[in-house]
Amino acid sequence: MAPPIDLLSPSAFRGSQPHEQFAWLREHDPVHRHTEPDGSGFWALTRYEDVRAVGRDPERFSSQPTIMIDDPRPGGTFGDHRMMLMADPPLHTRMRRLLSREFTPRAAEALRGRIAELATGIVDAVAGRDRCDLVGDIAGEMPSFVIAELLGIPLEDGRRLYACTEALHSVRGHNRSAQAAAFEEMFGYSQKVWREKSADPGEDLSSLLIAGEIDGVAQDHIDFFLWFLLLVDAGGDTTRNLVGGGILALFEHPEQRAWLTEDLEARLPTAIEELLRWVSPVIYMRRTVTVDTVLNSTSLGAGDKVVMYYGAANRDPTVFADADQLRLDRTPNPHVAFGGGGPHFCLGAHLARVEIACLLQELLVRCPDLTPVGPAEWPDSNFIYGPRTLPVRLRR
Ligand code: HEM
Repeated sequence: MAPPIDLLSPSAFRGSQPHEQFAWLREHDPVHRHTEPDGSGFWALTRYEDVRAVGRDPERFSSQPTIMIDDPRPGGTFGDHRMMLMADPPLHTRMRRLLSREFTPRAAEALRGRIAELATGIVDAVAGRDRCDLVGDIAGEMPSFVIAELLGIPLEDGRRLYACTEALHSVRGHNRSAQAAAFEEMFGYSQKVWREKSADPGEDLSSLLIAGEIDGVAQDHIDFFLWFLLLVDAGGDTTRNLVGGGILALFEHPEQRAWLTEDLEARLPTAIEELLRWVSPVIYMRRTVTVDTVLNSTSLGAGDKVVMYYGAANRDPTVFADADQLRLDRTPNPHVAFGGGGPHFCLGAHLARVEIACLLQELLVRCPDLTPVGPAEWPDSNFIYGPRTLPVRLRR
């Protein structure tokens, strides 16, 4: 029997992704016509091959005008200014070139020492306590500190901006005033950085972006805001939720946790890939069909919305043996948690892996008796998945 299909309600993503719905759709209706109360509806993709094909074909499946299911509100765009995530090649290629050298595996590796120091500081800050919130006090600190350092702003401000991203990621209309306030704050802050770094550039991404040109044209303060928003936004609750959701998965699979901690340093890199597959912190990315086309025997019309569900593709049994089992030693693990490998493949993937590795290493070594002491809370989102809070006891 088909389960009721509703991939829009945030309640479908509380506690777990809707794997029952995903499994049914993958098998019976892989290009599913999903209704939308305030919109035209969209095609929901749940098979690995379809998710990869769409993500890798920007000519037929555009990232413009947006990668969110909701269309932009009238007046909700910035004229000709584009955020990289919502641009198509060739503009996208030129934009990405501005930053790509800062996010290579080698660049991420060069930051490992500093990121390990941050991890030590984060665990030091809770070490004297008996209990804490694993998400807010530990997991969320790392990405907000790292992006603050990269952008050349105080760590404390990074923490504040990261709180704004959560409001921005919650479902539209659920808390409109908080969303508007978060947007205003982010805009105001980016303009302050723009002024300060224009006057006194440093060795940071903000200064690099301000000095950057695309086709000989300088970036203006709106372009800078869109970069700023993207960088603070993309690496914040995604990385946080992988750590929060990953620790939750370890609590729920004690035998896997025991296997991992037996030889933590050697096993962590493989385990992180499985946690990425398992948690899939980015629930979806949307594309818009540019020409009438056919996908997996289904006709799609120009202008249709197509939504790639990464958590569904990551449990596709045709690609992953025992897809519904957490196996921290899984290799190979061609998950699509960072995207299906197209032009928008996560720019921060290498950096995220270093952040996650340093934090999990520090946490699992220093707090071997870490245990949950209450239920997790979940955000109001159908876009980013993972617990919002997770109360834990740090020692026996
Ligand atoms: C576990 C953590 C993370 C996950 C799961 C994640 C996932 C994703 C996904 C699914 C995409 C879209 C891929 C596509 O459309 O094909 C993306 C894009 C992006 N991510 Fe990440 N991300 C993470 C961490 C980070 C970090 C730490 C940064 C950097 C600070 C970052 C920066 C970006 C940027 C800039 C893009 C846009 C790339 C483009 O449009 O070319 N991400 N990420």
